[in-house]
Amino acid sequence: MKKILAPSILSADFKVLGEQIRTTYDHGAEFLHFDVMDGLFVPSISFGMPVLKSIQGVSGQVMDVHLMVTEPIRYVEAFKEAGADFLTVHLEACEDVKATIDKIHECGMKAGVSIKPNTEVEQLLPIIDQVEMILIMSVEPGFGGQAFIPESLDKIRILKALLEERNLQTLIEVDGGIYHSNVKEVLDAGVDVVVAGSAVFKGDIANNVEGFVEIFKEYE
Ligand code: DX5
Ligand code: ZN
Repeated sequence: MKKILAPSILSADFKVLGEQIRTTYDHGAEFLHFDVMDGLFVPSISFGMPVLKSIQGVSGQVMDVHLMVTEPIRYVEAFKEAGADFLTVHLEACEDVKATIDKIHECGMKAGVSIKPNTEVEQLLPIIDQVEMILIMSVEPGFGGQAFIPESLDKIRILKALLEERNLQTLIEVDGGIYHSNVKEVLDAGVDVVVAGSAVFKGDIANNVEGFVEIFKEYE
């Protein structure tokens, strides 16, 4: 399966956000990763629906929205309206994750479920065949620029095996501490969608994106 880059705008320069998004698109990033933090599920607060709405149409990217929000079911419709294509919620943040997934589907979006570094992959089993994407957090959610947690590789491998056993085409996404230097490890473990914040937006964005795309080609 083709590998996809999803730059996380958490690390972008918001003075020139539109321009930076377009640069990532023009150089081959097919998704755009949008991190929403509520100050409760994670300590920090980032941005929400109005910002997502304001970047609608800036590029042709798939809007990949990652909700680090307690009880995200409350915001499913609002994110659909703001332009989300994939809506990913945290298993740990939902009282009823099945109802949340159903609502995401009813609203016409693709559903994702994410787990934090200390949550076991097996906890996804009850919903594993109900989502289009599973996001393995490879850092504690909340901030960009953290170091990749090596144990995430085993979680990715376990998840990949569980999906293959079931013949599921579910995308595996990884988020946190990914750079050109370690991206092959996660791709080899079975990742389809790579989130990268610092590795895309710090320095020369066009070069940074092209570096990832070049590596991805080896997997085609
Ligand atoms: C962390 C966010 C990530 C973050 C990744 O809570 O979910 O998407 O932006 O940033 P880097 O790539 O800098 O680790
Ligand atoms: Zn994220």
